[in-house]
Amino acid sequence: MVSLFGQESVSSDDVVVSSDAATRTLSVVSVETGFVRRVYERISSVYDLIYGWTLHPGRLQTIKRLSIDTDDEVLEVGVGNGINALLYPPDCHVTGIDLSHSMLEGAQRRLDRHGVSNVRLKQMDATNLRFADDSFDLVYAPYVISVVSDPVAVVKEMHRVCRPGGRIIVLNHFLSEHKVLGRIERLLSPLTVHVGFKADLDLPAFLAQAELDPISIEKVNIPRIWSLVTFVKH
Ligand SMILES: C[S@@+](CC[C@H](N)C(=O)[O-])C[C@H]1O[C@@H](n2cnc3c(N)ncnc32)[C@H](O)[C@@H]1O
Repeated sequence: MVSLFGQESVSSDDVVVSSDAATRTLSVVSVETGFVRRVYERISSVYDLIYGWTLHPGRLQTIKRLSIDTDDEVLEVGVGNGINALLYPPDCHVTGIDLSHSMLEGAQRRLDRHGVSNVRLKQMDATNLRFADDSFDLVYAPYVISVVSDPVAVVKEMHRVCRPGGRIIVLNHFLSEHKVLGRIERLLSPLTVHVGFKADLDLPAFLAQAELDPISIEKVNIPRIWSLVTFVKH
């Protein structure tokens, strides 16, 4: 784990913040929200096959780290077809939002099948959350930030609806700091957007442009090329 941003330029094992991070583009591709919605309407029926078990170790590692308390109000941004919904403790209150109607239908079927009653679902755009400021103890975006059209707007909305002292959690793959891998991810990104994500989201640029300082960044999943980024709202 590392803490960041005590100074203007910080290097660590996990992240290097250079002086142009606040202005450079986050990815070589940009996508509109309508495009993302159409992609997820199209892939919803095969989502579990592609992203179910492959990304599950990171979901399990994260839920352990979250240590959710009884009666905590949790917001899951981009709840998808509800894979995480089964992992929350039954005594917290979860609101799951997603853009895609088909993904939410899948989530509702999953909740019904498993008799989960502490998760409610709403169709909503994460760039414009219809919740009051300071509404949630925990705001969690698993595998979503590199999917949305505007990652900075989304994390700012997550921050807004989180209560002071609450946590904002981003679980995501970011551009590799390894030069060759990073180049490959940049080359692949125009293709991967058609299956639902950008492969080259730039973490230091994302943090600088969101003007948020994480308290920790941990590598998770297998292989450990996904990051669990934790912020606390002051
Ligand atoms: C890769 S899936 C992640 C689903 C789930 N969190 C998981 O762990 O499998 C990304 C989800 O984000 C949703 N999404 C994309 N853009 C969104 C937006 N602007 N607002 C809300 N949800 C969005 C997609 O519809 C999709 O269900």
